[in-house]
Amino acid sequence: MGDILGMDCHTLIKNEEIMETIVEMSSEWLLVFDENDTLVSLTIPSEEQGTINSKTFFTLFHEHEADRFHVFLRKLSEGKKASSDYFEMTVNNRVQLMHFEGMALSEGVLLKGKKVKEEAGDLIDVLKHIPIPSFTIDVEGRVRSCNHLFIDVLKTLDEPLNPDEPYLNDDYSFHRTISKLADIVNMENRKAAVVFEKEEIRLTIYGHLLSPTLLSVYIKDETVEHRFEQLLTYKQQMESVSQIAAGVAHELRNPLSVIKGFIQLSKLSNSLNKYYETISSEIDRMNLIIEDFLSMSRKKIDKKYVLPSDLMESMLMIFRSECLLHDIDFHFSIRNSRRYLYVNDQMIRQVLLNVLRNSIEAYEEEDKDCKFTMLTSTYGDTYSIELQDYGPGMPPDVLEEIYKPFFTTKDKGTGIGIPLCKRIIEEHKGTLDIESEPGEGTKVIITLPLYVEMEP
Ligand SMILES: Nc1ncnc2c1ncn2[C@@H]1O[C@H](COP(=O)(O)OP(=O)(O)O)[C@@H](O)[C@H]1O
Ligand SMILES: [Mg+2]
Repeated sequence: MGDILGMDCHTLIKNEEIMETIVEMSSEWLLVFDENDTLVSLTIPSEEQGTINSKTFFTLFHEHEADRFHVFLRKLSEGKKASSDYFEMTVNNRVQLMHFEGMALSEGVLLKGKKVKEEAGDLIDVLKHIPIPSFTIDVEGRVRSCNHLFIDVLKTLDEPLNPDEPYLNDDYSFHRTISKLADIVNMENRKAAVVFEKEEIRLTIYGHLLSPTLLSVYIKDETVEHRFEQLLTYKQQMESVSQIAAGVAHELRNPLSVIKGFIQLSKLSNSLNKYYETISSEIDRMNLIIEDFLSMSRKKIDKKYVLPSDLMESMLMIFRSECLLHDIDFHFSIRNSRRYLYVNDQMIRQVLLNVLRNSIEAYEEEDKDCKFTMLTSTYGDTYSIELQDYGPGMPPDVLEEIYKPFFTTKDKGTGIGIPLCKRIIEEHKGTLDIESEPGEGTKVIITLPLYVEMEP
């Protein structure tokens, strides 16, 4: 077609006879548009004549497609070089995928058109009969064809398609996932897959772009694999529970043998007084371990919506008095929010107190000025609480271990405090991180999600 370059569209139309011959030989369309996108000449194979003419041409596109076609023409006439694209049109009352290839003339555009729908049509037919759920959707999110297995999937998910208007419905999570998939495929990146999960169901959804406007989708049901994985993690959870239980038993054995020893001693010496203090403090220690363990395994948590400032202010009194008691300078700043935290305030209180307790214990060895700060702030959808001391801090090897249950550097520690706090915060869909520098101090950063009331 290179020879034609430089010819204007009127000269070209005069050679109509040649064009007709070309068309008859190739069953292709030849079209000429002037600078105003008006179709000035159309040559098509005889079996299609009558249905298409210059007046009806643009009405044959989907509304959306006609706009795209105009853009295509503009690009061609500006670029002055050959380029091609696919468009969906209704030809002989059937939706047909057309491939147009064209080039700029000195005034106007020459296009060669070819039907490619047959290929896609075959594929759609194949998809309909393969024994996995599959369907095709167009750019507007309308399901064009589907097989029974796909309908079954929609039934199982209780996310039906309206048979009269089979558009994806954004109110349904599975439909939204398909839309997401359609968004990520394009002509350069024609294949993609996304995973959809709802309760026990897991589906991997594969999309393959058949044409610029048509996406074929097929679904792999991985529900059984999913269930199996869940069983595995459940098994792992059970294992870690029994590990913790074994740990608790082990931890309890130490104070128990101390108590037993002292009771034997007191029997020998016929006086309990001498050993009373030790025995009583060992019993306290056992109590502490059991307390911590119980709160760790307590399952049901009652949460309610509270304003962050209300929650924090309710903590202030106990913080103030604890710090006063241990001669620690307490500084705080509380940021309010119009959104809510969804928390069990007793548990959050336990977390904050645990952190404070650690700082107080850390200061016990020090004789410098003791200071504890609590800063709160909002970052997007989260509320953050930073608790900081300026005590001895932790070397990296200690910092690495502190999230493990029963790790402690204290003679009378339980090592349950931090893992428990982390678990409680994560149970609230938040995060807990600890930064520490030897000699500088320790900072505990807690974040909790903020909600518009009644949302989660
Ligand atoms: N604020 C802190 N400053 C220094 N070390 C800390 C601090 N908080 C925690 N740690 C270290 O982390 C360890 C684990 O803490 P935790 O889980 O609360 O158990 P416990 O307090 O019973 O030892 C402590 O033994 C201590 O070594
Ligand atoms: Mg502690």
